Amino acid sequence: MTTARQEQRLVREIAREWGQNAAERCRQLANGLDFSHDSVLVPTILQLAGTLRGKKVIDVGCGCGFLTEAASRTAASVLGVDISHEMITHARRRFGKRPNLSFEATSIQERAGMTKPVFDVCLANMSLMLMPSLDSALVSMRSILKPGGRLVFSIPHPCTWNTFRRDEPSESFDYWESHAVVAPFRITLDPKPLPVASTFFHRALGKYVEALVGAGFRIESLIEPNAPRNSPPKYLKGFSYPRFAVFSVVANMFDRERRPRRHSNGLS
Ligand SMILES: C[S@@+](CC[C@H](N)C(=O)[O-])C[C@H]1O[C@@H](n2cnc3c(N)ncnc32)[C@H](O)[C@@H]1O
Repeated sequence: MTTARQEQRLVREIAREWGQNAAERCRQLANGLDFSHDSVLVPTILQLAGTLRGKKVIDVGCGCGFLTEAASRTAASVLGVDISHEMITHARRRFGKRPNLSFEATSIQERAGMTKPVFDVCLANMSLMLMPSLDSALVSMRSILKPGGRLVFSIPHPCTWNTFRRDEPSESFDYWESHAVVAPFRITLDPKPLPVASTFFHRALGKYVEALVGAGFRIESLIEPNAPRNSPPKYLKGFSYPRFAVFSVVANMFDRERRPRRHSNGLS
């Protein structure tokens, strides 16, 4: 069972990893090297989010702020939050002048503790799998959304990611067991991995469904985005199955009692 203190220690460790990777990660994105981010994930997330006109949006785990900025082109306001101060510094430097865009260095859990349910839309691109407690992350996201508000998030597809990425030897990979993985962050179109290996938490797809329902969300759609036809050949190699899963879920109109579940190894 992961205690609150262990969870905080993991969150600090993950903030440190992304702090050390921030400069290189923002360079990759600024140079259009992350094809998945630019051409698969961001378009799918924005499509599922629907019109953002007049809406108050939060981008959780906003990193360098590229999705945050894209959302701000139509939304009334967008707040990007990230546990890495370095990421937030980069995001502010690049996009900080936009009047309807702001960034804060904080965790979603901390932010939720001081926020009423004021957001219409919560976005989280490839960040939820970095959070040691899925239940606490989703309950936090649910608590800042207005009833009927929408959460759209992407994760590495738990059923196929390890086959594609081989972060763990296939003989020892246990799909059913939630577990931490420390692996280099690599993207297809950049030969160099990011400087520091980073931690993420593998969870079976069913665990996401269970945690979403438990946190008070109704699942509206799950998309397994395909690579667009104009993808570079190098990128398409091995894309015969989905790499990502993108969920669109809606905060139930009536809050009800929620008891976060924990799993035997403490990771939920
Ligand atoms: C893989 S990066 C993705 C960043 C960005 N969404 C993008 O698409 O480029 C994940 C980010 O989530 C942040 N993160 C991890 N746990 C978090 C938490 N509990 N609250 C807020 N941000 C978190 C990390 O610091 C990191 O910058």
